[in-house]
Amino acid sequence: MIHQFTTARARKSNKKLKMAVKELILHMNGGVGETSYASNSLLQRTVISMVKPILEESIVELCGALLPKCVNIADLGCSAGPNALLVVSEILDSIEAASQKSNHKLPSFQVFLNDLPANDFNTIFRSLPGFCKKLEEEKGSKFEPCFIAGVPGSFYGRLFHNNSLHFVHSSYALMWLSEAPKALGSKPELLNKGNICVAKTSPPEVFKAYNEQFNRDFSMFLKSRAEEVVPGGRMVLTTMASFRSDDPLTIWEFVGLKLNDMVLEGLIEEEKLDSFNLSYYAPTKEEVKKAIEEEGSFELQRLETFAMDWDMYIRKANSSLDKQARAAVMATGIRAVGEPILSNHFGEEIMDDLFKRFKDDVVDHMETYNCKYINLVISLTKKHP
Ligand SMILES: C[S@@+](CC[C@H](N)C(=O)[O-])C[C@H]1O[C@@H](n2cnc3c(N)ncnc32)[C@H](O)[C@@H]1O
Repeated sequence: MIHQFTTARARKSNKKLKMAVKELILHMNGGVGETSYASNSLLQRTVISMVKPILEESIVELCGALLPKCVNIADLGCSAGPNALLVVSEILDSIEAASQKSNHKLPSFQVFLNDLPANDFNTIFRSLPGFCKKLEEEKGSKFEPCFIAGVPGSFYGRLFHNNSLHFVHSSYALMWLSEAPKALGSKPELLNKGNICVAKTSPPEVFKAYNEQFNRDFSMFLKSRAEEVVPGGRMVLTTMASFRSDDPLTIWEFVGLKLNDMVLEGLIEEEKLDSFNLSYYAPTKEEVKKAIEEEGSFELQRLETFAMDWDMYIRKANSSLDKQARAAVMATGIRAVGEPILSNHFGEEIMDDLFKRFKDDVVDHMETYNCKYINLVISLTKKHP
């Protein structure tokens, strides 16, 4: 009996350990150096600015329905770098505008910046004194205090006290699953041979396995937030998406093609590639809608997709860059996101070669295929009981 008890406990703690290891592998490149996420997150910043009208609309409606003395805000999957604080300023500005319009006294703010434990929170924390000083200078003495805290942990579980959040934001984080589908297995002969995510050559079982993993994770996300968000509270979530669930044209499929080239040249073992699956899935509008309706705690206010060419955000920021220069920006952008997880499996020593291949070939690929990022914005209100 005692033996059984010990084994069950050991199994449980092993499971927890595995989870902890997974959560330590997924993170963006830290610091502020050349390949850091902080210096290479223009794509994500462009998406945040494109979603701003929906964020403002949601905040105006939130402030019309409830304006507490202290507004509790969470940004989930904030990463490290300027985007986290850009989102915070946009939210504070919108609340300030909405409360002035309705002649309410400005509330104070408690902002929670969440990411996985391996995130480089220090880079954000170092920029906080400058951010708070700027806020004070811009807003003047009428502005109520803004308290900012880091919350390490997975958003596929509870992070906050019951009924404590008024506004939740998340951008470009929900396409990262809690894990790659177990059904794909890790043995080389298994299903998704030659690919690192859902790809053109993936069999239907792969779509199904990823889709089921997304459903489990997104339901858990909604269930956890349902406990934490006050009735009438709001969420604006942006994620990478697909128009069809078997639409494979993600940038990660292209990274997989470059890894395949390296296998053909003998630079990576075939089994290494075959046994790797990214914990990444871009859901469709319909899949998201169904999960929200099934979970039942949130009312859907808006569900909108917008597509943009892979290099649109670079052309928008600097129209004079030629194709090769744009390819270099795209390669450092994807490296800032993918390097920790890819180097953990394939080894740091192949990273320069992999992303050089990405840079050299991405323009040709874009000219051959219709390569677009598809974004999905989800605006929700927590239902009253
Ligand atoms: C591409 S970054 C986006 C960061 C930021 N929101 C932006 O728009 O620039 C995605 C972030 O989501 C985080 N993330 C992924 N899965 C997560 C999870 N289960 N819980 C919390 N954060 C997660 C990653 O660690 C990463 O920092």
